[in-house]
Amino acid sequence: MFTQLLVASLAAISTVSAHSWLECADHDNTEILKWMQGNSTKSPPVIVDPTMPEYAYLCKGWPRNKKNPGNWIDDSTNYVWNIGANSWDGGSFHPADTHACPPAQRSPTYQDNAPMASAAPGSMIRLRFGGNGHARGSNVPGGTPGTVSVYWKGKPEAEITDISEFTAVNKLQSAGFSDNSFAYPADKSITSPTQGLVDKGNWMELNLPKDMAPGRHMMVWVWEYPNSSAPQWSTCFDVMIQGNAVSPVSNAQASAVADYSPAASAAPAASAAYSAPAAAAFAEADTAPAPSVAPAAPAAEEAPVVMVTEVVTVTEVVATTTTTLWVPAATPKLKRSHPRHF
Ligand SMILES: *[C@@H]1O[C@H](CO)[C@@H](O)[C@H](O)[C@H]1NC(C)=O
Ligand SMILES: *[C@@H]1O[C@H](CO)[C@@H](O)[C@H](O)[C@H]1NC(C)=O
Repeated sequence: MFTQLLVASLAAISTVSAHSWLECADHDNTEILKWMQGNSTKSPPVIVDPTMPEYAYLCKGWPRNKKNPGNWIDDSTNYVWNIGANSWDGGSFHPADTHACPPAQRSPTYQDNAPMASAAPGSMIRLRFGGNGHARGSNVPGGTPGTVSVYWKGKPEAEITDISEFTAVNKLQSAGFSDNSFAYPADKSITSPTQGLVDKGNWMELNLPKDMAPGRHMMVWVWEYPNSSAPQWSTCFDVMIQGNAVSPVSNAQASAVADYSPAASAAPAASAAYSAPAAAAFAEADTAPAPSVAPAAPAAEEAPVVMVTEVVTVTEVVATTTTTLWVPAATPKLKRSHPRHF
């Protein structure tokens, strides 16, 4: 069925455009990166695709309204957002619009099994996004894979709503789209999927400022090009900041912070911790061991690979299956300074 969908989708492609989206807002890639590398050297190579459901346990925090498990057809239909739409009107599916977030990501809404990221101030969370064949730059306007940036208002419960807020002041961090990516074959002269390039993992290590106030911080991941006429893409997510500030730590330590649970945040205990300087309240969660999750058994053999250059957005936006609307239990009282450039 997947293959049939794929074929149907490809047949329906009318507009080809580079695009990507944030798949995970806190990804532990320690193990899987080794597997990806190891399997890519087999003959024939075997793709280990971090977007597959059996690896979902490696994602500790998700973008807003992200499905778990998701798949790229559904994601590219329901989660992509072209913030360059003012200059690239994609018709009824991507009308010109200056919202910073896709429709389903304009409130801090999370699926029950795909909670928002939580982390201690000063820690690092690793964002993961699809390469979609662009990791080496030949397949995008201007021949560069562009830049990924994260924008943030600098305080809890503050929303970026419009693309005009993607300013230098609100920029938390930037990196090259494929600075931290996995692509093979190793031959750099192979630069596009039609020549065999496979790029299943692109990451951005986002360093959270040490003085972030406890609470929910809204952020926007943006993929942009030097060419401002080119389409640009965004995904919106939140990070629940809790616990004592730490020095930059490994992803494993950061993800040891107890997973945010929408239900729990409504509980009195959580709201008390939320409105108070919360270091003590969260100390326990901070040191709790990460839930032990047995890795899924590796698939014996991956299915034959179909190289897909572009995902098409042909289906209609499906009715939302949103289950939880996150509501702040109390207005955050903490003030913070505004560190900006990292
Ligand atoms: C290939 O990937 C599987 C997981 O799918 C992993 O268990 C195995 O160790 C990997 N092989 C190599 C050579 O890295
Ligand atoms: C910039 O992007 C637009 C839209 O994709 C494209 O038509 C144009 O050729 C690009 N310009 C350069 C210099 O790459």
